[in-house]
Amino acid sequence: MSEEEKSLKSPVRLPNPEISDPLLQLINNRVSTKEFCLGSLDEQDVSNILWSAFGQNKKGTRTIPTALNEKNLKVYLLNEKGIWWYNGESHTLSKISNENALPFLESQEYVQNGSLNLVYTGSNRDYSPLHAGSAYQNVYLYATEKGLGSVVRGFIDKEKLHRVLGLKDDEFVIIHQLIGYPVKKD
Ligand SMILES: Cc1cc2nc3c(=O)[nH]c(=O)nc-3n(C[C@H](O)[C@H](O)[C@H](O)COP(=O)(O)O)c2cc1C
Repeated sequence: MSEEEKSLKSPVRLPNPEISDPLLQLINNRVSTKEFCLGSLDEQDVSNILWSAFGQNKKGTRTIPTALNEKNLKVYLLNEKGIWWYNGESHTLSKISNENALPFLESQEYVQNGSLNLVYTGSNRDYSPLHAGSAYQNVYLYATEKGLGSVVRGFIDKEKLHRVLGLKDDEFVIIHQLIGYPVKKD
């Protein structure tokens, strides 16, 4: 076999990733948490999390890349007192309902112990789920950095959420992200 043919077959060993780099450390430590202790996040954490998900960064663009520059991702915050829509341009929360929609998220028991519930929705079948993925990964990394736990969950009642969020026919629920205090393990 010629050297050229060999090089097509044998994998090239890359240098080890520089895990000590702060960003790579966060990526290395990221994990889905499924055991939470009760406790609420402070307002600053909520602000930082929402901004990380879909806020506006210093270039006037979003914290995530968006296909066609379409800002059709929506991020909602849900708690027992109601539902809020996060406006990333003005970095504000607007209450859209007084309904407690948490039961539509709580198909798994551990969810009840989490602190912050976010629901991502979109209107572009190809790209909105990708935007949600970028947003929730930012939040995962933020949670990792702050010693918080997070998990994304598709096992939610999307039809009922569609109704309580007041989504239009062309909009759809993508995924739920829960953030909270992880049960510490030795
Ligand atoms: C699109 C998506 C949907 C998920 N849905 C659920 C879910 O409904 N319930 C759940 O407990 N975990 C869910 N997870 C979390 C996965 O179980 C978890 O990411 C996987 O076990 C890998 O673990 P890690 O995130 O710690 O690497 C989901 C993850 C993704 C990416």
